[in-house]
Amino acid sequence: MELLAYGVDWLNLLVRWLHLITGIAWIGASFYFVWLDNSIRPPKPGSDLAKKGVSGELWAVHGGGFYNPQKYLVSPAELPADLHWFKWEAYATWLSGFALLFIVYYFNASAMMIDKSVADLSQWQAIGVGLGTLLLGWTVYDLLCRSPLGQKDGLLGMVMFVFIVATAFVLTKLLSGRAAYIHVGAMIGTMMVGNVLMLIIPGQRKLVEAMEQGKSPDPIHGKKAKQRSVHNNYFTLPVLLIMISNHYAMTYSHSYSWLLLGAIIAAGVLIRHFFNLRHHGRTAWGFPAAGVAILLAVAVAIAPRPVAKAAPMAQAVIAGGAAAIGAGHAGCNGGADAAATAGAAHGADFNRVQAIVTQRCVSCHAAQTTQPGFATAPAGVMLHTAELIRQNAAKINQQAVVLKSMPIGNMTNITPEERAEIGAWFAAGAN
Ligand code: HEC
Repeated sequence: MELLAYGVDWLNLLVRWLHLITGIAWIGASFYFVWLDNSIRPPKPGSDLAKKGVSGELWAVHGGGFYNPQKYLVSPAELPADLHWFKWEAYATWLSGFALLFIVYYFNASAMMIDKSVADLSQWQAIGVGLGTLLLGWTVYDLLCRSPLGQKDGLLGMVMFVFIVATAFVLTKLLSGRAAYIHVGAMIGTMMVGNVLMLIIPGQRKLVEAMEQGKSPDPIHGKKAKQRSVHNNYFTLPVLLIMISNHYAMTYSHSYSWLLLGAIIAAGVLIRHFFNLRHHGRTAWGFPAAGVAILLAVAVAIAPRPVAKAAPMAQAVIAGGAAAIGAGHAGCNGGADAAATAGAAHGADFNRVQAIVTQRCVSCHAAQTTQPGFATAPAGVMLHTAELIRQNAAKINQQAVVLKSMPIGNMTNITPEERAEIGAWFAAGAN
């Protein structure tokens, strides 16, 4: 069993590595082509290039060579023998991401997907919600694009935004915050790959087929593909942030995590819009400024709040979090005393804290784990000795008291009272 979990850890690492590599290749190529499209300029009228049917070109220098890409309005007069397509980057990113969903979430659904304080789902129900989200997301998005709304870019964008935030809201009422976030990210990623697989590549194929038959290609395919390609462009930044947010419990464990996710998406779109305009030669700092302002507002809005019952200086200590504990309450002696009193009033003593941690955390967080499915201490955090608990006091408080993201999926059934006891011990100086 332990060996199996260890093997799954390796699989996790290797598939994650692959996912990053293919994702970089895909998004990198996509950024490059968007930049290219926005940066090319038409050749002089009547020049040889213009006569050849080139609608735009540019010069670039990279890696010691000069490059001169040229874009043809619809198609070149003759189809080249060797045409590059750029599709496997997208497919491989989705396939490796889908595999990761199984390795990280579906194989370990009770720890990674289910939060009994949110909804008491079975493992199969949780997995069903996850997979259903991907399918539903693509179906709704594709239908919207094909509906009359698909003609109105701005309105479609707004409707999609509302749909995604609403999906996030529903998911946070069914799954753990972490699983809700990753499934919103995976849903948007699925829309992006769906665009490549169902619209962009088939559109290009029709273009090429028409040329092979000596017909002039119907520009509608190019137009449809272009629309989806623009959507993908705006999806990129939000998706990337959602994917890495999984390692930042402050985002997904918040009680308004769905709203926060909406703000993150809005910020990502605004920042992306700035770059798109800039490649066109227009600089509009208002967009990224608004994006950054949104992120700052979010950071302030979700900053740790003082615990209501603690003494005033203890509140400062709690708010100060890790810094306060490290600094040993420098310049805050009176407060430390007050905090100690507050702690004592809550009955905080180290033996109790160690008993709680041993019962609720150590099955995963120890040199020798005993929790099935966890081969090594997650995130390298070990809590099996008194010294380790004191060393990790700030982290323990952060994860188990402030964010309540630990124990993961509350698999070890910690009680609210036990969380409060840890919090009181920490507020009193974590001695
Ligand atoms: C069932 C297994 C399990 C139990 C029980 C558990 N954890 Fe964790 N813990 C994890 C996993 C998995 C991660 C890694 C999360 C990630 O990848 O972001 C983790 C990560 C952490 C981290 C590092 C977070 C970071 O971002 O640096 C801390 C601190 C932590 N846990 C504390 C605790 C405490 C305190 C308890 C008990 C109250 C506890 N854990 C119980 C599985 C567990």
